[in-house]
Amino acid sequence: MRKQSPSKKTVVVQGGTDGMGRGMVMARLKAGDTVIALGSNVEKGRRLSREAAALGAGDRFRFIRANLSSIAENERVVAEIREQHPVIDALVLCANRQAPQREVSPEGLEFTFGLYYLSRYLLSHGLRAEFDAAPAPVIINIAAAGLKVGKVNFADLQFEEKYSTIRAQMQAGRTNDLLGRSLADEPSSKARIVLYHPGFTKTLGGIAHLKQPVKGIITFLSKVAAKSVEAAIAPMVAVIDSPPSERLTGINQGKSVDLTMDTFDPARARKLAEVTRRLVVTHHGQSPLLPEAAKDRDGKGFSR
Ligand SMILES: NC(=O)c1ccc[n+]([C@@H]2O[C@H](COP(=O)([O-])OP(=O)(O)OC[C@H]3O[C@@H](n4cnc5c(N)ncnc54)[C@H](OP(=O)(O)O)[C@@H]3O)[C@@H](O)[C@H]2O)c1
Repeated sequence: MRKQSPSKKTVVVQGGTDGMGRGMVMARLKAGDTVIALGSNVEKGRRLSREAAALGAGDRFRFIRANLSSIAENERVVAEIREQHPVIDALVLCANRQAPQREVSPEGLEFTFGLYYLSRYLLSHGLRAEFDAAPAPVIINIAAAGLKVGKVNFADLQFEEKYSTIRAQMQAGRTNDLLGRSLADEPSSKARIVLYHPGFTKTLGGIAHLKQPVKGIITFLSKVAAKSVEAAIAPMVAVIDSPPSERLTGINQGKSVDLTMDTFDPARARKLAEVTRRLVVTHHGQSPLLPEAAKDRDGKGFSR
């Protein structure tokens, strides 16, 4: 186990190889933390390792390569993190990639659902013991809190009938809102939950797979209208030092999000949590990352 000063934190950044995740990795390495970055691209991981070494933080940085749209890969990542890091102070959730056509994960789930939502669900629950070992743990979910657009289509959650990139992205935004609500209402750890919408930010990593002219338009708009990664992530870099006392916080571009909005509806959050558990069991089997079932906690079953 690496030696670490007690005031320094251990931070896991999902989607830590590019964009805002990469920004969080570098900022927290500069703050003296131990940082574990997760991403699928080995070259980006190597580059980040070199940058960490150049900062003199090579021994506090670790890259774990994984395709996080896969349930099995999330399980492997959690096992690898646990082996060396019994205490996790912060989990920062950033992984996303826009899929122009419907794709499926190795377990047959729709890719955007798997990467942009399910991986966040699995890591948030799967690292519960490690969060509980930290004095003030926090889970920061960088997505689109505070937006009303998009809906969780329970009748076709996997977009088997009709797929569109935008609808898949928007649904994932809303499922992450509901994930925040269920993590706060039925906590599997003591971690505080912060849902963060950064606003339009100069990143571009996630649009590499888009077609022209959409790609060109976004690239142009990003140059003229988007904020820098550093400006977008600054409030979240600070949250790791001082997590909120409230169980659930939403921030949309500097403003508090009203958590009574329909997008955080507790009943839909419970429904999504249960549907998600069933999808994991059906497509993969029982998983150590799944939270304790509600019926085991209160003896009443989940159909309430
Ligand atoms: N940028 C904006 O304007 C904006 C606005 C609002 C909300 N957001 C949200 O903020 C979050 C971060 O956005 P960003 O723009 O910083 O993202 P980004 O630059 O596109 O970076 C995405 C990250 O996800 C990782 N990733 C992609 N596919 C993966 C896979 N299959 N397995 C593991 N990791 C994978 C990428 O790493 P690899 O390449 O190594 O796989 C990369 O580290 C996203 O949730 C996004 O929806 C962004």
